[in-house]
Amino acid sequence: MTAERFAALWSSLSPIGRAGGDGGYLRHSWTDADLVCREWFVEEALDRDLEVEIDRNGNLWAWWGEPEGAGAVVTGSHLDSVPHGGGYDGPLGVVSGLLAVDRLRERGVTPTRPLAVVVFTEEEGARFGVPCLGSRLMTGAFDPAKAVRLRDRDGVLLADAMGRAGLDPDRLGPDPERLNRMAAFVELHIEQGRALDHIDAPVGVASAIWPHGRYRFDFAGQGNHAGTTRMSDRHDPMLTLAHTVLAADEVARLHGAHATVGRVDVAPNATNAIAAHASAWLDARAADESTLERLVETIHQRAEERARLDGTRVAMAAESLTGEVEFAGNVSRLAAKELGAPVLPTGAGHDAGVLAGHVDTAMLFVRNPTGVSHAPQESASAADCAVGVERLTDLLARLCQ
Ligand code: GLV
Ligand code: MN
Ligand code: MN
Ligand code: MN
Repeated sequence: MTAERFAALWSSLSPIGRAGGDGGYLRHSWTDADLVCREWFVEEALDRDLEVEIDRNGNLWAWWGEPEGAGAVVTGSHLDSVPHGGGYDGPLGVVSGLLAVDRLRERGVTPTRPLAVVVFTEEEGARFGVPCLGSRLMTGAFDPAKAVRLRDRDGVLLADAMGRAGLDPDRLGPDPERLNRMAAFVELHIEQGRALDHIDAPVGVASAIWPHGRYRFDFAGQGNHAGTTRMSDRHDPMLTLAHTVLAADEVARLHGAHATVGRVDVAPNATNAIAAHASAWLDARAADESTLERLVETIHQRAEERARLDGTRVAMAAESLTGEVEFAGNVSRLAAKELGAPVLPTGAGHDAGVLAGHVDTAMLFVRNPTGVSHAPQESASAADCAVGVERLTDLLARLCQ
């Protein structure tokens, strides 16, 4: 695979869903941009004579060989993005999967088992709040009755968003037969840090994913006049929120963990009014589950303490939780050994992490020289991406024959 060949396919996807002047993307699940990305995938798959299928959860599959056959080898990732995200997180694994099919054919590989490229739905959870929703529904890790009731920030129900895309939300749910037919899953992904850049390696293999969760904090106070309310008479939920953000940062550092408040909501959101309500979404990640639990408990405690001082109320709800994942199976061992690539853990969540509990799974990472992800500055050279395709092809060739 040459860099030019990689760049040629890449450039057919990269104009879709640009978010404006900053070079980032807005490809939220089931929006027009996402639907155009999905159409792009279907066309590319059909051009390769692959059989395209949409499963009951809206995940897209492109099959080389019999979709109903046993022992399938599957590769892929996702096409949805966070708001103003980079172009590589997700799409790199999908483009690489399609190109790996080309390379397998060019190498004269004849799979003795079905091979598929998959696009999972709503991996980022950027629209409906639950990350890896497509793979979670497929594995039975998320209740379909809850899924249909999820709403986006504009109040649109997931069921309606799917319906608009021509899918039947009543069919959402576990897909054990499909899972049982899968013998291996390999997700190639942009690295979301600079570990590979530091050691000057184009490709790495994932060893583990940190446990992580999303938590919603709702702060309630007394809305009031900004000019006439004495400082001593205020019950300002923004103050409680601000102190909670500072506490999250401090506690995470103490625990060697990661805590982020990247999304807030304030009502009524007026310059000359003390807020009545504020909400903050905490993303918390740690190397092990007990540290994560302690981290979140401590942040919650600190929020409650501050609420008592401010005369406000705070409620916390867990929106999603993903346990620790170790990629310790045969496929991952084979990847590390065959590819001679460095092995590294990650704090980012992936469909591969959800599938790892059910299917022998591995992840490959491609070097990201900026180390930035979930932002427009995310990057990878076409040359490194081409190496990624070759290494993915090596691994799939070993798995599918
Ligand atoms: C998704 O990319 C996540 O790790 O939040
Ligand atoms: Mn991703
Ligand atoms: Mn992501
Ligand atoms: Mn992810």
